[in-house]
Amino acid sequence: MNDLYNEYVKRLQKIADINYSSAVLQWDQEVYMPVNGAGYRAQQLATLAGISHELSTEKELGELLEKLHDSKSLGIKETANVLESLRVYRQNKKYSTDFVIELNKTVSESFVAWQEAKAKNDYAIFKPKLQKLIELKRKECELLGFEEHPYDAMLNLYEPGLKTSFLTQLFADVREKLVPYVKSILSKPQPENGFLFTHYDKDKQWHFGIELLKQMNYDFKSGRQDISTHPFTTNFSSTDVRVTTRISETDLFEMIGSCVHEGGHALYEQGLPSNEYGLPSGEYLSLSIHESQSRLWENMVGRSLAYWKCNYPSLQEIFPEQLKVVSVEQFYKAINTVKQSLIRTNADELTYHFHVMIRFEIERDILIGKLNAGDLPGVWNAKYKEYLGIDVPSDSKGVLQDVHWSHGSFGYFPTYSLGSFYASQFFHFAGREIPELQHQIKEGNLMPLLLWLREKIHHHGRTVLSDELCKNITGEILNFNYFFNYAKAKYDKLYE
Ligand code: CO
Repeated sequence: MNDLYNEYVKRLQKIADINYSSAVLQWDQEVYMPVNGAGYRAQQLATLAGISHELSTEKELGELLEKLHDSKSLGIKETANVLESLRVYRQNKKYSTDFVIELNKTVSESFVAWQEAKAKNDYAIFKPKLQKLIELKRKECELLGFEEHPYDAMLNLYEPGLKTSFLTQLFADVREKLVPYVKSILSKPQPENGFLFTHYDKDKQWHFGIELLKQMNYDFKSGRQDISTHPFTTNFSSTDVRVTTRISETDLFEMIGSCVHEGGHALYEQGLPSNEYGLPSGEYLSLSIHESQSRLWENMVGRSLAYWKCNYPSLQEIFPEQLKVVSVEQFYKAINTVKQSLIRTNADELTYHFHVMIRFEIERDILIGKLNAGDLPGVWNAKYKEYLGIDVPSDSKGVLQDVHWSHGSFGYFPTYSLGSFYASQFFHFAGREIPELQHQIKEGNLMPLLLWLREKIHHHGRTVLSDELCKNITGEILNFNYFFNYAKAKYDKLYE
């Protein structure tokens, strides 16, 4: 039996080698590649994707997995690995080569059309391509199969086990509790935050960001930071996990926020067991759990008063002209300003979820055939008026703002909100189990929190479902009240 399992490990690691090699090429494309490299780079990535798909759907792999599945001699972790690999194998087998080729081609065309449509503020350029993509995605739902709702099939690509009915209930909570709460905050005077938007030297910001990562215990021997247009984290193993950031000289918190956010993603990847390379037990659980790690660090730690009591003096020292007269309490208020805004990625940690709720409702209705590409600008603008109270001035700043739909990534957005909600539930229990936590954060001692996350989350890889992981840590599945209570405790004080 050991021989069969070793054969399985060898096959999975070979697939991982191919996938991580293409991740290196993608990282390079975003960070260093010269413009003229684009043509053959696309071909190189397509070749690797083809090889990876072949290896992942080989008949021999399927037979091996079935054999291992039938044998009763594996340990708990090995059994979990085989089960998960079998699930992924069966899922991959549902796609015909023709369908994959057509989908890839449509995605490429949609992405190009979206870029042009957004630049020219002309939705009509994107509409026909998006409609074609929507029809393929509806077909994909049928192909993958679902029990309750076609959208479940899309959600499960990012969050295995997640159901539309669960999200419908969750966003009903957001609508009934968070929407009126934000309204009550917005009727109060806003903090002064103009000092965040004066001038901050790029190099000085960069060095400050590196110090923040070091303080989080991000391991620079197993990673590095670079600059890119859109900040991201990528990894080629758990001992090579890279982050990028973006620096604006007229918006100080953009770099800080993205640095701590991506740092949180990276700590998760660096904490996965490196001897489980290529196996489910060595990989992240789901996008929601990934995002729970970035948001826990960004919001619960990086936007807390304790954190800035520790780090504000050095920030003031680096930028004396801009911050000399600003107190740490004023700084803390400024970085937590709640404001209704047009663009999801600039939203504060409360109104952010209204942006996600809008996308969730639209995606769900698209996949049951209730909405088509032509309906989207109107529906989008109506929902922004209803939930955020704002008029959308143009499609570029409205329905065309995000790249996700042009990539065919339906079902991705909800994982952002789930991530925040998981983060507050986990952080609640971290605080309970580490009584000195707030004091440690104030001292810049972030290791106890990291070790807690390692033990509770990182070390498990993808051997359980999110529901199970959450139950193991907190005694119940995801519960919106943790987020709502966290928000109320924090913002009642900030806006008192
Ligand atoms: Co993230």
